[in-house]
Amino acid sequence: MAVNLPAAADKAVVVEAMFDRIAPHYDRMNRLLTLGMDQRWRRRTLELVDLRAGQLVLDLACGTGDFAELCRARGARVVALDYAARMLDHAKARGLGGTLARADALRLPLRGASIDVIVCGFALRNFTSLPEAFAEMARVLKPGGRVGLLEVARPSQPLVRLGHSIYFDRVVPLVGRFLADPRAYSYLPASTAYLPPWDELRPMLESVGLADVAREQAMLGAVQILTGRRENR
Ligand SMILES: C[S@@+](CC[C@H](N)C(=O)[O-])C[C@H]1O[C@@H](n2cnc3c(N)ncnc32)[C@H](O)[C@@H]1O
Repeated sequence: MAVNLPAAADKAVVVEAMFDRIAPHYDRMNRLLTLGMDQRWRRRTLELVDLRAGQLVLDLACGTGDFAELCRARGARVVALDYAARMLDHAKARGLGGTLARADALRLPLRGASIDVIVCGFALRNFTSLPEAFAEMARVLKPGGRVGLLEVARPSQPLVRLGHSIYFDRVVPLVGRFLADPRAYSYLPASTAYLPPWDELRPMLESVGLADVAREQAMLGAVQILTGRRENR
């Protein structure tokens, strides 16, 4: 199914409505489409940011709360924010109620330098402005605080890229059409067009005051984890 990505001015409204619509299917589809590996990638992100018990972690664009739940299980104190109310309802149903709030990643309702760790799963390509989202992350992080951004990617090796494209661009929308929401699961592969390549993401992250910016790839390059540390100034 061909999908027209929303115009910039409509993107926030269209994406929010889409996640509200797919919220009942979201966890089941994630586990199915990644064969359960999405949770492994979240755990790896938490290792890379070295999340410790007692730290205050922001699960940004938390959706149904997978990251928030893993963070809480490690003894961290969690704030989990998302703008899609239905996604938050599902997070609440998992017992994450006290940690949740509805908020826009581009205007975080948090004090500056108040957060030890930020994690964000599969949400970057949904933001209307990455520079603004990164600037907000840097603003709320304490000096020395860490960020871990888990995202999809397109493999660079041609043969792997082809195999990945068959799965991601053909199979995923087909499965989504039958089991969940045709538009949303066509948007999922198409929305990688919003993701700048690593050589653009890196200076973007550094320009907001993040140091030690690095990228780890998984699944032959189909998944990436971007990390950084708020400079001590
Ligand atoms: C693909 S889901 C990821 C959910 C969760 N982080 C995970 O790891 O599964 C993307 C989430 O980003 C949220 N989102 C997108 N743009 C947002 C924004 N500007 N502010 C807050 N949440 C946003 C959507 O509502 C959705 O819940």
